[in-house]
Amino acid sequence: MIVTIDGVAASGKSSVSSGVAQALGVPYVSSGLLYRAATLLGLEANLDLHDAPQLLTLLGTRPVHLEPLAGGNRVWQAGRELTDELHSTRVDRGVSVVAALPEVRAWVDAQLRALPEPFVAEGRDMGTNVFPHASHKFYLTASARIRAERRARERPEDVPAIEAALQRRDELDTVQSAPAPDALVIDTGPLDLQGVIDTILTRLR
Ligand code: C5P
Repeated sequence: MIVTIDGVAASGKSSVSSGVAQALGVPYVSSGLLYRAATLLGLEANLDLHDAPQLLTLLGTRPVHLEPLAGGNRVWQAGRELTDELHSTRVDRGVSVVAALPEVRAWVDAQLRALPEPFVAEGRDMGTNVFPHASHKFYLTASARIRAERRARERPEDVPAIEAALQRRDELDTVQSAPAPDALVIDTGPLDLQGVIDTILTRLR
């Protein structure tokens, strides 16, 4: 069994997926962390983030490992844990460029498809490209302002700056982020975290 939860940036996908996964007693898989890890390693190596061959060579020599758990995912590069470094503003700025590279998408997809079921998969294209045969699919949305207000509680930046960055990332992510035709689209604007989780669990039951 695979449940997919896709959605726009900062729509609450990780927290919702974690809550749903814990209720189901299965791990959740955060695909965005693999794109973020590729971006971080590329930045650290001073690579041009548009240069797919160089990035793939780097990722080949420095393999990244995603550890899916119900409570939160961890990402490793050899013995080094990358998890806490993956949500910086600099990774946020570069990740859409890296995620637009077909070679990087294939690198991520291969890792995701090798994971043992069952799990909840969270990202942009889980229900469309990676797991089109998933048993249940959801897509989370909310206005850019509401998402920015939520994010401002986690980061020392003001709401307009976050909102502008989110809108920029939405535009860059348009190609890889669309609801599957058979996904239930949930506007999380009027709901709190538990409300979104309950909406999904009700549907699953
Ligand atoms: O979900 P999160 O914000 O961590 O994702 C970071 C970035 O990774 C997104 O902005 C998007 O560019 C990319 N991504 C993607 N496809 C996915 C998951 C994430 O293109 N399935």
